[in-house]
Amino acid sequence: TLSYPYYGAHQSGIDTPPQDHLVFTAFDLSATTATELQLVLAKWSAAMAQMTAGRPVGKVEPTREHGIPVDTGEAFDMGTQGLTLTLGYGPSLFDDRFGLAKFKPKDFADLPAMAGEALDPAYTGGDLCIQACANDPQVAYHAVRNLARMARTSVKTRWTVLGFGRASAGPHQKTPRNLMGFKDGTRNVSGEADFAEHVWAGDEAQQPWMNGGSYLVARKIHMLIETWDEDPIGDQQSIFGRTKQEGAPLSGQSEHDVPDFHAAVAGKPAIAPDSHIALVAHENNAGTKILRRGYNFTDGLDSVGRLDAGLMFISFQKNPEQFVSLQRKLGSSDRLNEYIRHVGSGVFAVPGGLPESGSYYGKEFF
Ligand code: HEM
Repeated sequence: TLSYPYYGAHQSGIDTPPQDHLVFTAFDLSATTATELQLVLAKWSAAMAQMTAGRPVGKVEPTREHGIPVDTGEAFDMGTQGLTLTLGYGPSLFDDRFGLAKFKPKDFADLPAMAGEALDPAYTGGDLCIQACANDPQVAYHAVRNLARMARTSVKTRWTVLGFGRASAGPHQKTPRNLMGFKDGTRNVSGEADFAEHVWAGDEAQQPWMNGGSYLVARKIHMLIETWDEDPIGDQQSIFGRTKQEGAPLSGQSEHDVPDFHAAVAGKPAIAPDSHIALVAHENNAGTKILRRGYNFTDGLDSVGRLDAGLMFISFQKNPEQFVSLQRKLGSSDRLNEYIRHVGSGVFAVPGGLPESGSYYGKEFF
């Protein structure tokens, strides 16, 4: 099945065309020494190489009868399924526990509190994260499960979100839809020049290990689906600034028409200035762009029987400030806020890719 390279200038799972499924997990370290952390990162680096190549992390069926299986086995023989595993470090990794303060990228910190949030600590933060994406959910799940298992004595899972139905599009992919029924990912970062300008970190982090890396922002966004489903189509379309079926900007006819934020219909702006796209479009934000790579999620029902579902928003940018500047505008003005709540949040520094077999993440820290 489809596979993506594990070694290279950048980690996979960022400019990789979005796969169908996501398992996102944030971890806390229970380890107390730098050596333990080093061992986790070295083990994970090797295991990630195995699993993204479709191989188990060890014996599924040990030869001795009393042997405990090293690999848990549920993805055995399923192939690679386009699996990518992307590792990130939370700001808390660089506090004084492991002596890593001098490796902290410049200005790297938890996201500031912003309007329109109702963050639940159970879905917020983390010392490490793994974004597993694959075209089969079991392959993605297996990868995270086995990483957690092999580091059990040093790492605890903090929060996790299972995503399905990607909510972003890469080149040549048909634009999928989010759970509000709108096409999501129509205007996204694409092409090498855009990635170089907006996504890949370089010297500005003042940390060589971040060269070719990026910052991952995760936001678990709950949708008030029952309320949204009663909203008239005219209002739904004006909230996004796009039509529902075609996904065309309200200033145009077809999905990929460039939105014209100056177009007027009967004396009024065709795309309302407080619509979602008008607020965040690069034309209205000094050129700021972010790569959106989110997934729909559902956790079944909430405590009062409503659908517990929404968007596991994930974006990549060369500086978290790109996300913050857009979210500040959305948090205070987006008409979508009536129908969504940001309940989870994390920001992670994603190091550049590993050059070759034998290298491991964090090698430069120890
Ligand atoms: C565009 C949905 C949250 C940033 C869009 C579009 C939809 C959408 C339907 C138009 C199609 C497209 O170009 O992809 C949603 C939903 C959200 C959400 C349902 C929450 C549940 C966010 C957040 C941010 C964001 C938190 C960043 C802070 C963007 C950007 C665009 C966009 C940058 C492209 C605008 C353009 O250039 O035209 N979103 N979005 N969105 N969204 Fe969101």
